[in-house]
Amino acid sequence: MPIRAWFPTFIYCEPLQKSGLARLNADLAGECRQLRAFDRAGRRWSEKNYPGGYTSYASLNELHRFSSTFSDLEKKLTRHVRGFARALDLNLRGRSIRLTDLWVNIMPPTAAHSLHLHPLSFISGTYYVVTPRGCPGLKFEDPRLDRFMAAPPKLPGARRANQVHITYPAEAGNVVLFESWLRHEVAANRVAEERISVSFNFNWA
Ligand code: NI
Repeated sequence: MPIRAWFPTFIYCEPLQKSGLARLNADLAGECRQLRAFDRAGRRWSEKNYPGGYTSYASLNELHRFSSTFSDLEKKLTRHVRGFARALDLNLRGRSIRLTDLWVNIMPPTAAHSLHLHPLSFISGTYYVVTPRGCPGLKFEDPRLDRFMAAPPKLPGARRANQVHITYPAEAGNVVLFESWLRHEVAANRVAEERISVSFNFNWA
């Protein structure tokens, strides 16, 4: 074949652990809801910036420092991120990777999260805690989309790898990792139940 693919964009998706996910997610869901009840500043911030939903992104974004449930999650996530960083062939120059921010997102019906990236980190991701059937997934955008200029659109039946968006279904127990510059969004939740996830950023220092 005279054509080869270069400059791939990597996305990682794997269950957090082999067993015990239901119990862990029940604990996490309880703690996430308690947090929303307790975090008045976060609820106020969410009213303006996360309409219809709750995120602790601007108020309680270092949860791994304050709760054993979340510091335990940090340890498990770090193993996945280490593996992902290895697969990316990153030269960390002897430094170690470090979780800097970890926050909760609760999306009741209608809540959405528009297109964004994660500044000040190199690997980011989400862990899914509660994912009612039919809730929205995580939609990624081809990072070259803003350079396509006069390129024609892709065929309706284009191969997966040639499409300009890919949506990973939200599945409780899964960790999704991506490089922090990769833009992504979550469409509005159209089902009756809340969708709960924990998002995080990693740096190297
Ligand atoms: Ni995000």
